[in-house]
Amino acid sequence: MADAPDLAAALIAENFSRDAGGVLQVGGLPLTDLAEKFGTPLFVYDAATMRRTYRALCAAVAGFAEVDFSVKANPNPAVIRVFREEGAGAEIASGAEFEAALKAGVAPEKILFAGPGKGTADLDRVVAGGIGEIHLENREEMVRVAAAAERHGVTVRVALRINPGATAQGGAMRMGGKPSPFGFDEEAMDAAIDAVEAMPRLRLVGLHLFAGTQGLKAETLLGQWAYGLGLAARIAQRTGRALETIDLGGGLGIPYFSGEAALDLGAIRAGLPDLIATLRADPRLAGARVVLEPGRYLAGPAGLYVARVLAVKDSRGSRFVITDGGMHHHLAASGNLGQIVKRDFPLAAGVEGPEAPRAATAVVGPLCTPLDMLARAAPLPPLAEGDLVAVLQSGAYGLTASPTGFLSHPTPAEVLVEGGRAEMIRARG
Ligand SMILES: Cc1ncc(COP(=O)(O)O)c(C=O)c1O
Repeated sequence: MADAPDLAAALIAENFSRDAGGVLQVGGLPLTDLAEKFGTPLFVYDAATMRRTYRALCAAVAGFAEVDFSVKANPNPAVIRVFREEGAGAEIASGAEFEAALKAGVAPEKILFAGPGKGTADLDRVVAGGIGEIHLENREEMVRVAAAAERHGVTVRVALRINPGATAQGGAMRMGGKPSPFGFDEEAMDAAIDAVEAMPRLRLVGLHLFAGTQGLKAETLLGQWAYGLGLAARIAQRTGRALETIDLGGGLGIPYFSGEAALDLGAIRAGLPDLIATLRADPRLAGARVVLEPGRYLAGPAGLYVARVLAVKDSRGSRFVITDGGMHHHLAASGNLGQIVKRDFPLAAGVEGPEAPRAATAVVGPLCTPLDMLARAAPLPPLAEGDLVAVLQSGAYGLTASPTGFLSHPTPAEVLVEGGRAEMIRARG
């Protein structure tokens, strides 16, 4: 996966395909037909790719961890349902995500709630709904959860989310050692444990560690997980009870940019015996359910964001392909969601032969701001009005992470392809 055209082509070969005429296919259906039927702009997800990705990750971490789905990456209930059918529970960050997970058929006891600002209404909703676990991130929230438990006459299972103090671990703790609104600082962990233990309506059952997103290196993730097991042991030692849950977070990355290589699941697998031995050696950890809760890794590769060319405009030596899709639907692809240096997501034309000449192409959206760029210099074949452009790696943090209200264009439709059928899972607008 050396440069951008190779990355796009490699991703298409892995998760999609092209027919003899060069038409991009999603789950065996021509993208041109999907765009015709459902209109553009459009998000298309391939269920088979989601299932394959989920199964491969489960196989890699078998004997160590279970894999849940982080709903924030893609809260469409039809997407959550695919992972639920594969056996995943759900990690949610709001009352609305709780509803989405329930709608997808996830049992409430298989849902856990994390996030730095959980309000009373959301807490009441999830406690009344019998949520599996709430992950505590600050003192005020601890009190609010206890009050919700009291109102509903139940005991709530809670875990402590810890903001790690370590900065070492081979760069593993990318979110560690820094001030953060997420979780209790590790330095304050003992006091937080004691505070929870003093609340009769709360039962401290676990640890939650989320040490950073978009991790592409196995050794980084393994280092974070090892650190998490150490924290879990400290919680168990202080409470004197066995832990039931060790949530090591998500954060598994996918390649977006030239030069990035996919996460090596073989290297993950090879590093797990040490962690499994650590768990087994501690009777207070040996029976715990270890959980990973990735979002991006599971949903990202399965999704395409599809836009249609409205105009091709030459301006003072530069060519702009203007499309009907843009940052209002896909902020991440425009480079405005957490990127410091803006780089292009892998893009491909909807119809493109292997020998097509390619040139660096700027692809922009319809918004009245220079920020609205889907690519600055994507290697694309010549495009004309009516052609389709697809942004790869768009199944996670697409629509859900975008400013859909900006300029009042309708929201795009979302379509799930499975078993040779395309189903609209969210209507346009
Ligand atoms: C608590 C928690 N879990 C899981 C995730 C999912 O992260 P990713 O999509 O990188 O796997 C996030 C992302 O912000 C998170 O905050």
